[in-house]
Amino acid sequence: MVNPLRSAPDSRLQRIAGPCGIVLFGITGDLSRRKILPALYDLANRGLLPPSFTIIGVARKVDPSLPEKVEAAIREGANTPVTETTLKQLMSGLVVVNGQYNDVETYRSLGHTMDKMSAERGTNGNYAFYLAIPPELFPTVLGGIGTAGLCAEDDGWRRVVVEKPFGHDLESARELDDMVTKVFHQDAIFRIDHYLGKETVQNLMALRFANELYEPLWNSAHVDHVQITMAEDIGIGTRAGYYDGIGAARDVIQNHLLQLLALTAMEEPISFEPSALRIEKEKVLEATRFYGPVGESAVAGQYTSGWQGGEWVKGYKEEPGIPADSITDTYAALRLGIETRRWKGVPFYLRAGKRLGKRVTEIAVIFKRSAHVPFGNSDLSESGQNALVIRVQPDEGLTLKLGAKVPGTSMQVRDVTMDFAYGHAFTEDSPEAYERLILDALVGSAPLFPHQREVEASWKILDPILSFWETQGQPEPYAPG
Ligand code: BG6
Repeated sequence: MVNPLRSAPDSRLQRIAGPCGIVLFGITGDLSRRKILPALYDLANRGLLPPSFTIIGVARKVDPSLPEKVEAAIREGANTPVTETTLKQLMSGLVVVNGQYNDVETYRSLGHTMDKMSAERGTNGNYAFYLAIPPELFPTVLGGIGTAGLCAEDDGWRRVVVEKPFGHDLESARELDDMVTKVFHQDAIFRIDHYLGKETVQNLMALRFANELYEPLWNSAHVDHVQITMAEDIGIGTRAGYYDGIGAARDVIQNHLLQLLALTAMEEPISFEPSALRIEKEKVLEATRFYGPVGESAVAGQYTSGWQGGEWVKGYKEEPGIPADSITDTYAALRLGIETRRWKGVPFYLRAGKRLGKRVTEIAVIFKRSAHVPFGNSDLSESGQNALVIRVQPDEGLTLKLGAKVPGTSMQVRDVTMDFAYGHAFTEDSPEAYERLILDALVGSAPLFPHQREVEASWKILDPILSFWETQGQPEPYAPG
């Protein structure tokens, strides 16, 4: 008998990108320096990029020292040890095209360079355009690529990787999508949400669908509520230009946290095919509701100056580049519900903020108390509810909190934890999220990239809250830490 599973690709195998290159708009920017360039090096170092891999950087200013800066970014940010031969090999495929983003000449010269590199290095005309640029430049750059015909797949594939924010509300997200789909077809668009590249986030699917233990409990009969938290101890640093007017809800709840909610609450997909996974995430996001009123079910906060970890830190409004009357939320928390049989009546609390006590991202599934215990209430005073805490970062892993008997002659129950830590259980190191996602884009594998419909469903949840906040004046101040 034919086993239908045999026809599915073996997901244990390492995928290796075929001949190709990346066209990096914003090569001199912060994201390229901190994440993209080191991730490309790590991929090369793991042998997952072809030796002929090409990086075409597009930069507005001529900077003869750019190759040194790229090298320095790699040395500083690489996750794997820097090997001189790999670095040299990667750097041999780096070329820079200079020009203004609104100048047709820039795209003409980019087209020539792409052809030239194809001929010289054998990229076979396969290129991914990576837009690591501020969103206001998207229309110009997409227009330039489209007008110059660089998206045409006459010889080789062409894809585009778009960084968030995917708009700033539902309407602008639709406008952005119209713009991108005028130039690239749907399957060629890769919207990066780097949380989906994190190992623990993918482990959430393994946990839920490779084990028998949790699924029977994963519903409103047993789950009391779910808390999804993304706390950061840092402030906004030098990102005033990006962050002000965006705030915590748009910056991370619309994408990272709602994606975590979708993966936690979705039904089992019929396969790991992009369409199958996206259908389930989309269904759950479509069923997610904010019931309001905003004043009771959502909170916006803004950090003030104060002591944090032995250091005096500036308040948000004193950060360089932030207007003194800014009403941007640096903390946001919401209570959501999901209108499905599985989740009816279970609150999902989402919260995210800067300048909080410590950096931690986790999903805590809190179970209901036992309907009956035969020991009498006083014996349970030191035990709480069972909880499964999925630690996304740092210290990736999970913790199960349960009640256990305290040794001794009396029957006393106290909370204990069972721990699984990635660092202890596996010797393999986790690739950085960007590494995984860039490789996926280069091999054309889309399961971990949100679809436009998910983006729109997320904005539908947030829009009423955001417009309420925008008319309500100041968010509540909170002290750092
Ligand atoms: C980004 C946000 O998407 O995620 C930043 O724009 C945030 O504001 C960052 O600091 C956090 O990422 P990570 O991987 O460090 O949790």
